[in-house]
Amino acid sequence: MCGIVGYIGFRDAYPILVKGLHRLEYRGYDSAGIALMNEEKNLSVYKTKGRVNDLEEYVLDKDISGTIGIAHTRWATHGEPSNTNAHPHYSQTETLALIHNGIIENYAVLKAELQKKGYTFHSTTDTEVLVQFIEYIKQLHKCDLFSAVQIALGQVVGAYAIAVMEKGNPDQIIAARKSSPLVIGIGDGEYFIGSDASPIIEYTNKVIYLDDEEIAVIKRHEEPQIVTIGNVRKTPQIKELEMSLSELERGGYPHFMLKEIFEQPQSLTNCMSGRINVEGTNVTLSGIIDHKDKFLNARRIVIIACGTSWHAGIIGEYLFEELCRIPVVVEYASEFRYRNPVVYPDDVVIAISQSGETADSLAAIELARKSGAFVYGVCNVVGSSIPRNTDSGSYTHCGHEIGVASTKAFTAQVAVLTMMALTIAKEKKTIDDKKYTDTIKELQNIPGKISQILDLNEEIRQLSYIFTYAQNFIYLGRGYNYPIALEGALKLKEISYIHAEGYPAAEMKHGPIALIDNEMPIVIIATNDTIYEKVVSNIQEIKARNGRVIAIINEGDEVIKSMADHCIEIPATKECLDPLLSVIPLQLLAYHIAVNKNRDVDMPRNLAKSVTVE
Ligand code: G6P
Repeated sequence: MCGIVGYIGFRDAYPILVKGLHRLEYRGYDSAGIALMNEEKNLSVYKTKGRVNDLEEYVLDKDISGTIGIAHTRWATHGEPSNTNAHPHYSQTETLALIHNGIIENYAVLKAELQKKGYTFHSTTDTEVLVQFIEYIKQLHKCDLFSAVQIALGQVVGAYAIAVMEKGNPDQIIAARKSSPLVIGIGDGEYFIGSDASPIIEYTNKVIYLDDEEIAVIKRHEEPQIVTIGNVRKTPQIKELEMSLSELERGGYPHFMLKEIFEQPQSLTNCMSGRINVEGTNVTLSGIIDHKDKFLNARRIVIIACGTSWHAGIIGEYLFEELCRIPVVVEYASEFRYRNPVVYPDDVVIAISQSGETADSLAAIELARKSGAFVYGVCNVVGSSIPRNTDSGSYTHCGHEIGVASTKAFTAQVAVLTMMALTIAKEKKTIDDKKYTDTIKELQNIPGKISQILDLNEEIRQLSYIFTYAQNFIYLGRGYNYPIALEGALKLKEISYIHAEGYPAAEMKHGPIALIDNEMPIVIIATNDTIYEKVVSNIQEIKARNGRVIAIINEGDEVIKSMADHCIEIPATKECLDPLLSVIPLQLLAYHIAVNKNRDVDMPRNLAKSVTVE
């Protein structure tokens, strides 16, 4: 959420910053801006509503020289997307320029105080309040910029990642974070700043991840100094990035989302590699084995997550209850954190997150840890905040996901949860040997079966034309496919803006059935599982009301073929692995409908990839 990029070194900053903004645009894209300092030490801010391309057009006739700069792509929190609300924001005297990701919660109080002292504001953002406040502190205490930032942040309530530049001081950028990620890339005589590593990886793989309440003084000719708000000096921990540049390119696909859908056979292979042995007889997740007792003695598993990750969590619930016989509850992190939940010290809390930066999930983790529970992270982004704030965990290793609508991260989360359940079940002896090895062997077959489903891409594209102008959709599924109904509906609404509802198929008769008429498309996942017959009955109920049924069925299912309007045939698998296959056609269907509607698939309106504000 909001992309931050910065550069200080010997090259022209502008091209590096703009390229970085393009890489970060998936985080937020309603406006963009840049601050640069030229040789005369003048500080210029250029910003505009719209995409990074609009910013590039806007600066065509401007002075974009300079070897130091900061830039921002915004996802609006306070104040609508507009030229004035775009970042960077100047301080009153225009000597400071600041970019910010997060929310300053006490901005209204600070603003009122500053207004009383004669400060005026151009925007309606909390960010402008912060930069004005830093300048006010600087003047009040007659101190340097670092001290002013330190004192100001000590009085700020909220979440932030910031970068600040000062007119007349071309050798320094100050950066700081609390609850919003910030990475410093270390080059040879140059430094890079990013709200994630994607704008940095092209130049260096050596990075420092700032921790909460840390301020970095990044000077042109010196090692970065890291000091906390409480004035404790920290030794920078330099980490090596694992990301590769090709992950950040579309690689011939029209959209990142399509590329990521098609990457799933490989991303799942990567996710399982080193965890399942070659013979397919054993699965080991070291994060669990190292803390085996916690899982064996768990009174309960509490899964917390948001969005698509929450859907993976429900599949986790079904897996842990079926295979490990441990009671599970699945909670939206945003609800959990505020509803004063009961958490026992012998609970195991599993936090699932692609980005590892979701603010609500981080707060829920903090609450769980304070209650003494053991917290396990299932995350994709290596080195992100959740893995750093949990007791143990497993990475999903599906590679960088850029499309805002999550696809390959979801299947990797489900694969990790399956491997977790198998690992625990074996230790707990709640699974017999045959079921254990059969499930592992079938898990190994999943990438190949996904490839077969991807071969149906053209067929699904043709189908998508029929439903492009539908106003509403219902998605139904039961058992392991119920969360897939939720996920299919979410994918469609996120990128096509068609209203879609996911429901457990049997619940249909308790309300949604009233919506069914001959215009209502109903996507029903009807693979051949233990409740197949019940799902067949649900299809009959829909057809009796003239609904238009698109059924996801197993290959060769003549019964449903004779009833449904359209069928997508996918290979059969073990019931508990069904979600890994049944979600694929739904990802493709949502994708093609969105493309037909000319939607911006990778950057759908109002959304952001990484939600670092609550
Ligand atoms: C945002 C994204 C979703 C994602 C959710 C949770 O809303 O648009 O795709 O599922 O955040 O994100 P996380 O990174 O915690 O999985």
